[in-house]
Amino acid sequence: MVLQKHVSGCSVPDPPDLSNQIMSPALWFPFRGLTKLSHPGKKPAQGLLLKSIGPRKIKRKRNQKKGNKRTLGLSSHKFLTLDDVKTSDKRIFLRVDINVPLDPSTHQILDDTRIKAVSDTLARLEDARVVLGSHQSRPGKDDFTNLQPHAEALAGCCNQQVMFVEDVIGPHARERITKVERGQVLVLDNLRFCAEENVDDKPEKLLKTHFVKQLSPLFDLNVNDAFATAHRSQPSIVGLTEALPSAAGRLMEKELKAVSGLLVEPRRPCVYVLGGAKVEDKVPVIEHILTRDKADKILLGGVPAKLFLKAMGQKLSAEDEKEMVGLQADIKKAKSLALKYRDKIEVPVDLAYGDARGKRTDRGIDAPLKESALDIGAKTIEKYSKAVEGAATTVANGPLGVFERDGFDLGTRQVLEAMAKSNGYTVIGGGHLVGLASILGIDERFKHVSTAGGAMLSLLSGQSLPGVDALVRAADRMRNQKPN
Ligand code: 3PG
Ligand code: MG
Repeated sequence: MVLQKHVSGCSVPDPPDLSNQIMSPALWFPFRGLTKLSHPGKKPAQGLLLKSIGPRKIKRKRNQKKGNKRTLGLSSHKFLTLDDVKTSDKRIFLRVDINVPLDPSTHQILDDTRIKAVSDTLARLEDARVVLGSHQSRPGKDDFTNLQPHAEALAGCCNQQVMFVEDVIGPHARERITKVERGQVLVLDNLRFCAEENVDDKPEKLLKTHFVKQLSPLFDLNVNDAFATAHRSQPSIVGLTEALPSAAGRLMEKELKAVSGLLVEPRRPCVYVLGGAKVEDKVPVIEHILTRDKADKILLGGVPAKLFLKAMGQKLSAEDEKEMVGLQADIKKAKSLALKYRDKIEVPVDLAYGDARGKRTDRGIDAPLKESALDIGAKTIEKYSKAVEGAATTVANGPLGVFERDGFDLGTRQVLEAMAKSNGYTVIGGGHLVGLASILGIDERFKHVSTAGGAMLSLLSGQSLPGVDALVRAADRMRNQKPN
């Protein structure tokens, strides 16, 4: 099936000038030490490299101690990018993350940010035969569905002819893959329709999956552009990267540079705004950035704010107290962080609740109502907005309240607007914040809008990303082969 429907008004970038390609300047990203793997099924990279990449260099920053595995910059590694590889006529597996919010009943795409974000990579691959793979949601969820709407939307974001096949690794898909021509993009169906793609495993195990064995012989090159899924160790993210010559796509490159740069030398003062419904992914970020002195203020909203208020001895509303019951370990951690960094961690001074009619009422933190707090209060909004306006770097992830409810979007909206006005370096991530920024029409005013939620937080909490580690190992393998 050939799709050419223009779903969103996304602009198609000018194709890059490929006549003058040179090796990319060294793009060093700081990730931790990696171990060598054996590669039973690996494909050689002959004829793919534009230039010899040279021996692997390991840099260690001065005054960084050996042995601290969580220290970023322990060693620096390089992966290949689309500036390093020949793509003309090559059959390329392109892993992207176009897992998007869908209308639960019609499956219409509600926000196409992640789809538009792939267009730079697709523009660079116009001379190739591209087979594109992504997941959509997870088994059991309402939006776990096929990728046909995504393929239609992609057709409006690139110059290639876009086709869709209702299969992932079966004979039908494999036959279509071998027939893809230069200038075409074949979209495979939801990769998570394959059971193996739903399991995180070690690289050596992923190499042996049916998924990797069926697909890898069909490709010359693997391009991973799925930054938002780089924290998963799954067959399409890690397995194919182990099996094939591999490079990072444009989005992967851009995201890693923007997000990992925050952990190198952020311009100061550097302020983090952290909210959302989960605490288990925010507490490690707070710990990591404060321990490494990469932030001056952490402004908390959402459930993380309640957690730290509780940890600081504040009584919460009866409903919020209930929410804290299962979070004893996080409360303990928050307590020790709050003691150590009392001048850096900011909790709300007031919170907003719904009255009997659901109307917003703001209360000081000493006078909670019975119900759950739904937003930060007006005084906190003013305080946070000022802090953000004066910051040289601001990073935000997670809404500050239940912004979907009428009247309770105030905190998230006003702090986002303050960020958008600031002249500093501003980064937002996570589906909710990015979606809201796009609804408000201010998304283009941020310096970097990340397509990732979990992957961004993993990186900021000092964890290595399996998808990136695999790209680095692939570069090491290719470096040891002679260029043509
Ligand atoms: C996401 O939106 O978080 C990414 O697409 C990864 O999806 P996952 O959290 O279901 O693995
Ligand atoms: Mg996720």
